[in-house]
Amino acid sequence: MSSEPLVVVEGVRKVYRTGPKEVVALREVSFEAFPGELVAIRGRSGSGKTTLLNQIGGLDKPDAGRVVVAGHEVTSMAEDALLGLRRDVVGFVFQSFGLIPVLSAAENVGVPMRLARTPVEEREKRIRMLLALVGLEQHANQRPYELSGGQRQRVAIARSLANRPRLLVADEPTGQLDSQTGRQIMQLLRALVRSEGVTALVATHDPGLITLADRVLEISDGVLREAALQES
Ligand SMILES: Nc1ncnc2c1ncn2[C@@H]1O[C@H](COP(=O)(O)OP(=O)(O)O)[C@@H](O)[C@H]1O
Ligand SMILES: [Mg+2]
Repeated sequence: MSSEPLVVVEGVRKVYRTGPKEVVALREVSFEAFPGELVAIRGRSGSGKTTLLNQIGGLDKPDAGRVVVAGHEVTSMAEDALLGLRRDVVGFVFQSFGLIPVLSAAENVGVPMRLARTPVEEREKRIRMLLALVGLEQHANQRPYELSGGQRQRVAIARSLANRPRLLVADEPTGQLDSQTGRQIMQLLRALVRSEGVTALVATHDPGLITLADRVLEISDGVLREAALQES
């Protein structure tokens, strides 16, 4: 690939200190992700997936090393710049969906655009487009509790794309779903990465979902390595 990497992770180390105990969650992790790639990060529970995604998305800072996303050096950014990065450059999808219960599906999708002060007409138009993209145009006015788990995650995915992020960070997006729904969500992510041209980093410990990725990174005890695509 000739293009510049969208994500550069270099020698990232993260140590959690709780009292006298130290947990080395990331050990000099390095990798690059290129525009339009879907990269799966595979590893068992406690291997460091969430910690890694948090350093990349600017939710936390490492003890050493650096992270660059779309030319922004995340690891040296001040908090207000990080807020802008998380609003405009990175879209997040979480295992627990993270929707606002009192808002409809459409209103949830609109939240990041309100924060970005997108004009109301443009916002409404993009909400309709995004809900159609994830197959929920008929469910725009329903609240999260009136939707299934898979539908909630579709709303969350639509919301994550609201401000046209360059990077999608998804932390076990299928972790609360049954395997068939989980696979549909992975297929949706796969299709969106193609159609929207975003780069996606998807953490999962589900080997069945790995086959849809362009590349697989394996993390074990905070050590990251490139894995062969076919093994599972
Ligand atoms: N806030 C924290 N304080 C202390 N230890 C933590 C914290 N978050 C994670 N850890 C530890 O860091 C390691 C990696 O955790 P995590 O990144 O959550 O793994 P995964 O997402 O792969 O399950 C684990 O040993 C976990 O117990
Ligand atoms: Mg995790």
